[in-house]
Amino acid sequence: MGVKRVIRKAAKLVLSSSPEKHVTVTVAQVAAGSLLSGRRVVVTGGGRGLGLAMAERFASEGASVCISGRSEEVLKGSCAKIGSAASYVVADVREVERAGWFLDECAQRLGGEADSLVANAGVSLHEGRFSNVTPEGFDAQFDTNVRGAYFLVQEFLRRRLRMAEPSGNVLVVTSETGEQAYDTPYGMTKAAMDSFVRAASRRVYRATDGALRVNAVAPGVTLSDMTAEYADASDGNLYRDCASGRLFLPEEVAEVALFLLSDASKCVSGEVIHTNAGNHIKAFWDGADDE
Ligand SMILES: NC(=O)c1ccc[n+]([C@@H]2O[C@H](COP(=O)([O-])OP(=O)(O)OC[C@H]3O[C@@H](n4cnc5c(N)ncnc54)[C@H](OP(=O)(O)O)[C@@H]3O)[C@@H](O)[C@H]2O)c1
Repeated sequence: MGVKRVIRKAAKLVLSSSPEKHVTVTVAQVAAGSLLSGRRVVVTGGGRGLGLAMAERFASEGASVCISGRSEEVLKGSCAKIGSAASYVVADVREVERAGWFLDECAQRLGGEADSLVANAGVSLHEGRFSNVTPEGFDAQFDTNVRGAYFLVQEFLRRRLRMAEPSGNVLVVTSETGEQAYDTPYGMTKAAMDSFVRAASRRVYRATDGALRVNAVAPGVTLSDMTAEYADASDGNLYRDCASGRLFLPEEVAEVALFLLSDASKCVSGEVIHTNAGNHIKAFWDGADDE
């Protein structure tokens, strides 16, 4: 250690009157095929779309997954598709007073408390014109996308923090619209959750020595029931006239979600990772040909 460093350390010690803290980390080497081995993951809205793609991918990497939604028929069919690692709970995320009940039910099916929660359930009303937005539509989107997700994450983190050695992951599915102006009030709901992800991470990451992480994945326009009205790639053509030049697939989002739940992303928390190839990034030449 250089002389300057020793002096700096000694000065710091005297000034703070407490010894320097030590933080160590083990870099995780993860093996494909078992990235989530032994993990228990809850995916809200896991019966279809992005949620189903994520649940399938997590199961393929060794996790037990419990998916939720409001239609038992859909959930049953999706569990059959995912295989024996999957179970389901019929639950409406808007019933925030039942968040504890919901996580208990998931724990029963998973054979223990979930270590990871993917708050994916969401709705978009695509009102188009700003003047079309109604108080009812506004409330419907905030009730599901913000209120429902917020209180479920709160209950999940509360439970994890009660453990002797808290650990785990929260992943909130937000949207590129949180950073854009084209879809309101839907985009507002997603911007609110981006903010919550940062706030929640700051409250739990350090308190758990980095064992409990909170992140968001923010997709661009991705093929699902939600976008079926205006995003069609039935001929395999993913072209879209936007900054990134294309639509995205649920499976692409699932890969990023997998990374964020895995130990390979130990140094990532409080982040909003866009899965839109930079579509939210604006440049002065937008509208002109790219160079
Ligand atoms: N597709 C995109 O382009 C895109 C882009 C950015 C972000 N996202 C976000 O990604 C997430 C998934 O969207 P998606 O495209 O997969 O949409 P989707 O195909 O319409 O699926 C939405 C899922 O959420 C569930 N859900 C809705 N309201 C619920 C409620 N009150 N309680 C419980 N579950 C509920 C639905 O299940 P039930 O209806 O059976 O209850 C369904 O499983 C959403 O948060 C969405 O905002 C999507």
